[in-house]
Amino acid sequence: MCGIVGYQGREGACDILIDALRRLEYRGYDSAGIAVLQGGSVKIARKQGKVSDLWNMISSENFAGSMGLAHTRWATHGVPSERNAHPHKVGDVTVVHNGIIENYLELKESLKQDGRTFVSDTDTEVIPHLIVDYLDKGSGFEEAVRQALKRLKGSYAIGVMKDGSETMIAAKKESPLLVGVGDGELMIASDAPAIINRTNRFIFLEDNDVVTMTNGELKITDFDGTEVDREVKTVQWTGAMAEKGGYRHFMLKEIFEQPRALSETLIGRIREEEGEVVFDDLDLPDVSKIRKIWMVACGTSYHACLIARHMFEANLRVPVETDIASEFRYRDPILDRDDLVILVSQSGETADTIAAMKEARKKGLYTLAICNVLGSTLSRESQGVVYTHAGPEIGVASTKAFTTQITVFFMLMLYLGRLKGLLDSNDIRRHLAELKKLPRNITAILDSSAVIEEIARANMHYRHFLFLGRGINFPTVLEGALKLKEISYIHAEAYAAGEMKHGPIALIDENMPVVVVSPKDQTYKKTCSNIEEVVTRRGRVFLFTDTFDHDMASKSDAVFVIPETIYELQPILSIVPLQLMAYYMANHLGTDVDQPRNLAKSVTVE
Ligand code: M6R
Repeated sequence: MCGIVGYQGREGACDILIDALRRLEYRGYDSAGIAVLQGGSVKIARKQGKVSDLWNMISSENFAGSMGLAHTRWATHGVPSERNAHPHKVGDVTVVHNGIIENYLELKESLKQDGRTFVSDTDTEVIPHLIVDYLDKGSGFEEAVRQALKRLKGSYAIGVMKDGSETMIAAKKESPLLVGVGDGELMIASDAPAIINRTNRFIFLEDNDVVTMTNGELKITDFDGTEVDREVKTVQWTGAMAEKGGYRHFMLKEIFEQPRALSETLIGRIREEEGEVVFDDLDLPDVSKIRKIWMVACGTSYHACLIARHMFEANLRVPVETDIASEFRYRDPILDRDDLVILVSQSGETADTIAAMKEARKKGLYTLAICNVLGSTLSRESQGVVYTHAGPEIGVASTKAFTTQITVFFMLMLYLGRLKGLLDSNDIRRHLAELKKLPRNITAILDSSAVIEEIARANMHYRHFLFLGRGINFPTVLEGALKLKEISYIHAEAYAAGEMKHGPIALIDENMPVVVVSPKDQTYKKTCSNIEEVVTRRGRVFLFTDTFDHDMASKSDAVFVIPETIYELQPILSIVPLQLMAYYMANHLGTDVDQPRNLAKSVTVE
């Protein structure tokens, strides 16, 4: 996830762009760069590190000019370095890009055969090369960009400038981009917070929009050059509200971001037609020798491990041991050098998880991190890393990190299944088709958030909740209960439904509502019996399932129906209403949702 910004107006572009970049830095910060049109040619500067490092480098230089582009990068292809930083300039053409060009290797190969030389490891560099190619063949600037865009597969938001031209071109497909319409100035940005201090009038671009800006004149067309009409919307956001995308809290924003976060997790990693999962730069040791897989983490990330254990054991038939990082590091587990240790962390800075990784490395095991934050300690010090690409998670309660971690685990399961010869391309194709439906299905749940809010509002006076689930949804309810307790301070306990009779049933009465997650899988009937037992004891039931069942509905206080999916992916859908329920209860109770008492976003001490 990178951030891009562009300016065309009457003032000096450089200061405006640097200021906007600072506000976009939350989207990624391993390197930054700027391009300004100066005396007919585009001057660029790039620097590894933060925006402040770029500013320190250029503040004494002459970067005068009233049109420019800038970029803050979070590496996906190519290590963080000045060479791989944006903007990328090829001949007369300068480009900034956010997203992933899936067919870049193929394009790069064919451009190389035409004699073009590449200087970076990025996927982005193919874009200016393609544009230059079309310019050389006689196309005008706008047409050359359009032709190049038609060759790209994947996701992108781009900004383009050309030496000797007063025109800036921008385009988007599956990556965010908006146009800010200011007083005598036009801007483009990945996100409103970047430019909310200059304008509150935005055009929220749609996929396949191409924006052409020349001397303050704006034109929006589709890929074929036909003009399209886009409304300029005035928003009443303050800077802080804009950062939250208009949501009341970061947590709610992050819950609603899950469809996009999941899509970004998948980008560049799944090849549905070929029935393949690809993890660039992942160099696992001989998987046929793996005797056991360890999954180690804390909190929500640990719950993702518990879910992964179900999918790995069922599909890979390899024993999986899950452990809480603070336990793993002290209990001297029996490790074999050929075991694989997977460490999961949103922040990559959780002290216990890092210590567990070091412990495993000390014993000579291969460590693989699943992590969200690029360049974090865990991601740097583990031998392998797969990023979740969820984008920054700011709310202390983890939401999109969880669903993207499960998504990565699922892809990793398919990847290992292929390497071990247990899954063929047809199996993988089938699984990928289900995976690809998730963003749409999460959106369908989010569209019913008002129903969940109503349930939350009507029941937030209870001081205790019991959560029940079975199989792969036992960890889902552990996570649902964690969400509720950490932000609303309501006591919530989760049990495997089969355990209810072994103790917790003693708690059931009219003051102990029970949240049940039970899709219609092989354990549904058993859970129905649990519901009967709760109701007999005057307990109140809130059922989250994937098929409406009149009998169970008549026994429950509320039933929420989740879209159907395969067993392995159910938690990704069933956790969303639980996240929402926790959020709405906490919000209506008036707690500090984003920074609940006594908690920190990353626990960097033992
Ligand atoms: O950054 P990590 O994923 O390593 O953090 C682990 C836990 O501290 C974290 O998941 C915590 O439990 C959250 N507050 C849960 O919402």
